[in-house]
Amino acid sequence: MKSIGIFGLMLAFIAPACLRGNAERFFAVPGTEFGVYYYPEHWPEEQWERDLQQVKDLGFEFVHFAEFAWERLEPAECEYDFKWLDRVVDYSASLGLKVIMCTPSPCIPAWLSEKYPEILAMDETGRRVHHQGARLTASLASPVYQKYVARIVEQLALRYGQNKNVWGWQIGNEPHIQTVYDYSPAAESSFKEWLKKKYASLDELNLAWGGPFWSFSLSDFDQVNIPTPTLPQPNIHALLDFQIYTSEEIAWDLINQSRILRKYIRKDQWITTNYAYFKFLPMVDPFLTKDDLDFASHTMYLTSNWLNSSGDSLSHRLGSGLELSFSKELAASTNGYTGIMELQPGQINWGRFNAMPLPGAVRMWVWHAFALGDEFVCTYRYRQPLFGGEQFHHGIVMTDGVTVNRGGKEFIQAMDEIRELTPLLDKNKQNSFIEKSRTAFLWSNQSILDMENYKHHEDWDSWQHIYTYYQALKRLGVEVHFFEETADIVPEEYPFMIVAAHQLMSRQLIRKLEAYVDNGGHLILSTRTGLKNDRGHLWEMKLQEPIWALIGGEIEFYDHLPSAHPGTVILDNESYKWHIWAAVINPAEDTEVWAKYVDQFFQGKAAVTHRGSGLGSTTFVGPWSDGWELENKVVNQVYGRSLGSLPFQLPPYVFAHYRDGLWIVVNYTDKAVVVPMPDEKKILIGKRELIPGGILVWAD
Ligand code: GAL
Repeated sequence: MKSIGIFGLMLAFIAPACLRGNAERFFAVPGTEFGVYYYPEHWPEEQWERDLQQVKDLGFEFVHFAEFAWERLEPAECEYDFKWLDRVVDYSASLGLKVIMCTPSPCIPAWLSEKYPEILAMDETGRRVHHQGARLTASLASPVYQKYVARIVEQLALRYGQNKNVWGWQIGNEPHIQTVYDYSPAAESSFKEWLKKKYASLDELNLAWGGPFWSFSLSDFDQVNIPTPTLPQPNIHALLDFQIYTSEEIAWDLINQSRILRKYIRKDQWITTNYAYFKFLPMVDPFLTKDDLDFASHTMYLTSNWLNSSGDSLSHRLGSGLELSFSKELAASTNGYTGIMELQPGQINWGRFNAMPLPGAVRMWVWHAFALGDEFVCTYRYRQPLFGGEQFHHGIVMTDGVTVNRGGKEFIQAMDEIRELTPLLDKNKQNSFIEKSRTAFLWSNQSILDMENYKHHEDWDSWQHIYTYYQALKRLGVEVHFFEETADIVPEEYPFMIVAAHQLMSRQLIRKLEAYVDNGGHLILSTRTGLKNDRGHLWEMKLQEPIWALIGGEIEFYDHLPSAHPGTVILDNESYKWHIWAAVINPAEDTEVWAKYVDQFFQGKAAVTHRGSGLGSTTFVGPWSDGWELENKVVNQVYGRSLGSLPFQLPPYVFAHYRDGLWIVVNYTDKAVVVPMPDEKKILIGKRELIPGGILVWAD
């Protein structure tokens, strides 16, 4: 196999069209801008100027205002008060600090729910969520909410839409439904309307929802109820429809607000929202707003210790670099650009145990966000609050409001270091390995929801399954772009594609994947893929038969084991354990068998197969290995065969990113790592031996 001269050759590749959204104009200048959340309403007015002056002096470039301040902006119905906000906006302008302005929709004021209690969301037991200081108490489906939110957004847009110092707008905050499902009458009637649009008749709905099963069939749309997922075995088709409806309702709130803003704001102000924690907020689909928001921003708290991390002796202090990377790449996939809206500058207050970040960790996170290509990095928050539900949440400054804490100092150190290297950044510089290894990751919220609704093995976790492949890609240093099923993915732009446990598939999608391979693409499919059709029913065919031609083999059956008695697979004389899911394959004659099962009653049967087709290939991975190393090996083999030598084969939780001419490597493990970098390159920051929480930067 010939080496492609990974670090040398600069190819004049044209960046794929889908990477260039309309947001390009907002971020034309190379580098990253830095800012802070500041809540003037939490502090005495006489401190505002002092605080903003210090924000400026510390080197920040923008401030983030007003996201939860509805009661201050509209203290009584239709009585608006913008004077206080004018003051901080004007003062920021005088200091040269740009402003991100937020719509306050997550926090409805007390007078509103008192006057119209029907605005409040309802939980499964029919209890209204009362005004008690929590956020997201309103039902997004409520016409009252929609009316009042439209008014306040319009007022804000009228006030600040032409303000040259307002850089952009954030709609709401981390969109989701606080009660997970909203059972209010408003939500129920809006769900019924949604169903009437989706299904031309009740017969169609009954067919899609498997009416005859357990006497579910409905004889009137009025009999539709919001499913109760806590009951054992609810109708999973009805549940999935309700989840899809909910994701659209969340999107509609954002779209409605963005359309109001759009009427009044300057063309050079952008609109975003800060999407978060896709796995905790499963009904949130960031692709649904791609035509209305300029880009999706993202938030990430690395040390919540609810997230995927190395699990080693420092993981609770260094946090989840994998999820930071994933969150950035997923958010950026909607419109080609993103920024991180919330990045912690120290301890947080809502994690499992809120460990202090390792000295150096905050600096590494800022560097990592920069390396990933975030166009801006905003820290949550500037001051630690003295009251309210987040009292123990660190800010850049301590509770005295002026003393910069350790995390704050690290944040500022990283900003200064990045700024110093910014003149070296060149947006037109490309790295041949990055270009040749561009990877499309097929994305379907619906497949994930469907698998999470019915796991089949208690240890099944769709997110961990996706991360199994995502991490293997990150260990190679490749860039990942997530695509919806409707996208055109061509091998010239994306030579590799991952389709991980994509359970729901249409025939059309399968044909698309076949064409991708025929045209020279390298496709890796994992277990569970194509088990059901796009309506969530099993095919009236043999198991996964519609994908047999694509993978070059028949899938005989799938198996699952208790974790205490795992099965074994052998690939290249190395053995790997599995217990959650394994598909047993009967390969066609011209299909290579890469790995075999070596125990159980199906000993000797194929576990991983590979089929070349013209210039392209399809690899099917039947088992999901415990510890993810089998998948790592398979990914290495597919990329290695096609590209020749690979520049990185990093340990898990060490990440290498290329940005505009720089390579940046960060280490989220408890061990020092010797980074495989070319000898002739000049190190700009750090050492080749990268310590835990360390940063290594070199010019490509
Ligand atoms: C985020 C949320 C912020 C704040 C923060 C505290 O998830 O968007 O508003 O609550 O957590 O860490």
